[in-house]
Amino acid sequence: MTRNDTPRTDDSDAQRTDEGAAVSETTIGSGSAGPDSGFGSESDAESAPLLDESFDVGERSAAGTTQAETEAVIEARTLDVYYDDHQALRSVDIEIPENRVTALIGPSGCGKSTFLRSINRMNDLIDAARMEGELLFDGKNVYDEDVDPVALRRKIGMVFQSPNPFPKSIYDNVAFGLEVQNRDVDVDETVHSALERAALLDEVEDQLDGSGLDLSGGQQQRLCIARAIAPDPEVILMDEPASALDPVATSKIEDLIEDLSEEYTVVIVTHNMQQAARISDKTAVFLTGGELVEFDDTNKIFENPDNDRVEDYITGKFG
Ligand SMILES: Nc1ncnc2c1ncn2[C@@H]1O[C@H](COP(=O)(O)OP(=O)(O)OP(=O)(O)O)[C@@H](O)[C@H]1O
Ligand SMILES: [Mg+2]
Repeated sequence: MTRNDTPRTDDSDAQRTDEGAAVSETTIGSGSAGPDSGFGSESDAESAPLLDESFDVGERSAAGTTQAETEAVIEARTLDVYYDDHQALRSVDIEIPENRVTALIGPSGCGKSTFLRSINRMNDLIDAARMEGELLFDGKNVYDEDVDPVALRRKIGMVFQSPNPFPKSIYDNVAFGLEVQNRDVDVDETVHSALERAALLDEVEDQLDGSGLDLSGGQQQRLCIARAIAPDPEVILMDEPASALDPVATSKIEDLIEDLSEEYTVVIVTHNMQQAARISDKTAVFLTGGELVEFDDTNKIFENPDNDRVEDYITGKFG
């Protein structure tokens, strides 16, 4: 099944989503170019701690990728999200495992992007948005008062549907987050290594001073992924990152996501069921009304889901 085959029920929702994405257009990697959204002022960068000292966000589980189950790095507990009076997510409970790829699927307007944005508090940028319940990252509620959303977005980076490089050189695109963070890192080495991990270095090595905007769509998306991973986040959120790309570029991004999951927790929204089946370890199915209807191993979801509505959705009986 291709993306075009995937049913999209509500165009107005899709359009509304695009408005949400417009907020995102200025947002990069683990932060944002926007004034309150991510890479804020230099003082923001200096006041780096995400949380108080009692909470160590740097600590990663030793479970690695060799064990069948890893610890939950993100956990939602009875999470509700509203846009004014409209409830977009209903009592979502989920534990997203570390160093795994988790796919979020479901018909248009069911709240996938809303859920993704609630993880790194990108919904804070939408005036109408309001949430109830808890969203834990490494056991800490990211909506607690002592959490700095700017620092949070450095730990939980984001890649969007449309590649959105800055009108800067390839090198500066990747270095941007590092400079703003004012971190004590070897920028040159980090830029090269991020481009390499994003499987782009070979193609751009000789043109690092060239504009990021002169790259192809698929290369731009890998540049955005390089930019997202350069600050060394723990989690990468991707909202339909390959939907605007051709099959060759899509396959590169899919390979890359698989590689990234060795080091990062990846949460990806996709309308492409085959893509979800190919690249994810776990799949969460949201259905209209903002309910998380089933969450399980990807094989189980696609081969033998418990819920009849999930089976109907997956087999294309409704969207
Ligand atoms: N910025 C916003 N303001 C108001 N309502 C919104 C906003 N963004 C989303 N919504 C509404 O919240 C619901 C969930 O939208 P969301 O964008 O999360 O869905 P989605 O599953 O990502 O859809 P799609 O597959 O089309 O991207 C929809 O009813 C949508 O209209
Ligand atoms: Mg969406």
